[in-house]
Amino acid sequence: MDFERVFDESYERVLKRQLDGETFFQAFYRRFTASDPGVAVLFHHTDMQRQQQLLEKSFYRLVVFYATNYADDYLEKIAQRHSKRELNIAPHYYDLWLDCLIDTLADFDPLFDANIELSWRLVLSTGITYMKFKYDH
Ligand code: HEM
Repeated sequence: MDFERVFDESYERVLKRQLDGETFFQAFYRRFTASDPGVAVLFHHTDMQRQQQLLEKSFYRLVVFYATNYADDYLEKIAQRHSKRELNIAPHYYDLWLDCLIDTLADFDPLFDANIELSWRLVLSTGITYMKFKYDH
């Protein structure tokens, strides 16, 4: 199974769509901030429009990381920014982040099934492991 291709095709489908006037990343952040009071507090003062654009850009780097096994400077900076020393994003929040992303995906991808879910989880797993590792390294 070519999980990267399954992921790519699914990602293209969700980026093209709007649901109830929301893009994929807008719907994701609404879900993520509603999922836990701690997350809502962290984004209390955040310009969410800008945040969505930044996530979309960095999301692509996570995918490249999976494909190449190479964490570029940009990803390194993002990981440092989320670490204990700066934003202090506890590692368990990444599991919630991924679950919220998958729930949003289930709404947005008309072809969503277990195989597509697995492809997203696999493609993002390297980047998430990296972010968690950098929390205190
Ligand atoms: C792999 C997953 C994630 C990626 C790729 C990511 C990406 C980003 C990026 C690109 C920024 C902007 C950094 C900047 O302004 O220079 C950011 C900021 C931020 N992220 Fe994440 N993030 C991830 C996971 C999380 C998680 C799990 C949380 C937990 C709540 C979180 C909370 C935040 C907060 C609070 C900010 C700062 C917002 C502000 O400037 O007000 N992120 N993230």
